[in-house]
Amino acid sequence: MLRVEALFVERGGRPVLHGVDLTLAPGRTLAVIGESGAGKSTLIGAMLGIVRSRSGSVTWDGGDLRTAYPSLVMQEPRAAFNPALSLRRSVMEPVRARRLELPDGRIGRLCAGLELDPGLLDRRPHEVSIGQAQRLGILRALIASPPIVLFDEPLSALDAVTQKHTASLIAALQREEGFAALVVTHDLGYAAAHADDVVILRNGRIEEAAAAQSFFRAPRTAYGRALREAALALGALERIA
Ligand SMILES: Nc1ncnc2c1ncn2[C@@H]1O[C@H](COP(=O)(O)OP(=O)(O)O)[C@@H](O)[C@H]1O
Ligand SMILES: [Mg+2]
Repeated sequence: MLRVEALFVERGGRPVLHGVDLTLAPGRTLAVIGESGAGKSTLIGAMLGIVRSRSGSVTWDGGDLRTAYPSLVMQEPRAAFNPALSLRRSVMEPVRARRLELPDGRIGRLCAGLELDPGLLDRRPHEVSIGQAQRLGILRALIASPPIVLFDEPLSALDAVTQKHTASLIAALQREEGFAALVVTHDLGYAAAHADDVVILRNGRIEEAAAAQSFFRAPRTAYGRALREAALALGALERIA
């Protein structure tokens, strides 16, 4: 179980997160929703220890989250890959770093789940499409069976059809692998379709935290209602409206 308590972060001398609390259980998906600059990437950075927090705690089953080897999927699909290396080298990096033995057939099974031709692993990052690079980044994030995966706007570089398809592939793999997923997004349609719970982050504070179903049925805050109305106007919530 992930537990973030009273997380306070300053950047450039300014408070960016003002005491954020959240929890996330294995196998569950938490969508962290908020506009640009709300502090979503800072939250992920602070959880991973890439950004220093001023106070507060981030634990997994009561211990330091970092000792549980959380995985990160970045917004820019090719950012996870060294352009000079084969995709196989980069994908296998978490396995090599931890000196793990992969179960037989693991790469093949994950590639099948992500609808990736394993032959792509012999290419370089610029020799695959952006959608393939995104799914290869997810492969890299999942290869070492992490208990929790942090996704920072993982679908925003993709076209709408590829977004939907990739989101379904992630959801199917999550059911098989059982990882907890924290997904930073400003796509309410994605959150409505895939999240169990939502947290609305605004100016570094949690404006609203709720089960996804109850949030999309009836947000409790004015800001939550405005977000839902905007998404409805865009047609992003057709499935549940
Ligand atoms: N390296 C940095 N130095 C100083 N301020 C930063 C840095 N990175 C982000 N910020 C500031 O922190 C706030 C939150 O940014 P960020 O976490 O990237 O938001 P989001 O991911 O929600 O768009 C913004 O005001 C941004 O300008
Ligand atoms: Mg961000």
